[in-house]
Amino acid sequence: MKLFIDTADLNEIKEIASWGILDGVTTNPTLLAKSGRSLQDVINEIFVLVDGPISLEVVSEKAEEMVTEAKQILTKIPKNYHKNVAIKIPMTSEGLKAVKKLSKEEIKTNVTLIFSANQALLAAKAGATFVSPFIGRLDDNGQEGMRVIEEIMDIFCNYDINTEVIVASIRHPIHVIEAARLGADIATVPPDVLRKMLKHPLTDVGIKRFLKDWEKVTK
Ligand code: E4P
Repeated sequence: MKLFIDTADLNEIKEIASWGILDGVTTNPTLLAKSGRSLQDVINEIFVLVDGPISLEVVSEKAEEMVTEAKQILTKIPKNYHKNVAIKIPMTSEGLKAVKKLSKEEIKTNVTLIFSANQALLAAKAGATFVSPFIGRLDDNGQEGMRVIEEIMDIFCNYDINTEVIVASIRHPIHVIEAARLGADIATVPPDVLRKMLKHPLTDVGIKRFLKDWEKVTK
């Protein structure tokens, strides 16, 4: 399973990219606002830090405007990085029209704010490169987010649909394990959850014990 980082915080991206485990980045308007940096600032650095799909979201609501905005975003990005851009489009009928147009022009899209398998199926049929079901928000709403991932994986597998599933709105490390067990293509994970995935108290205890014992050997 590929791992994306779900943040626009460049320091976090830099640090976690240095672990050598990142395959891409997802951002959204909320994450950009939190980073305190302008879109152009983030764009200038993010593509150098991670060589993989980087999702940047449009805020227009009409299909034509979404397409224009997507192309404006592309003008801000050096040509050699265009292959890594995925334009995030919201899951609406206007969004689907925009996805269709962009996919015809071979511009990658990531359909966001997906909360059901039917929405994922529609987005895939419109030509989405990625779909992003938000499992944490479903859990928050009293539904079982992972169940939607299971349904999407079954449907995409039944019909050999090659749209990739990005498990999004991840809240804790168990979400990542469950996503991987279901065969999801990608999990986009917030930095704090990536850190929790890395850590285990027994690893720390084990390192301390080995170092202590090594001191005895070298004394
Ligand atoms: C995905 O691309 C979104 O940026 C993200 O996963 C949303 O997560 P949230 O529900 O924590 O805001």
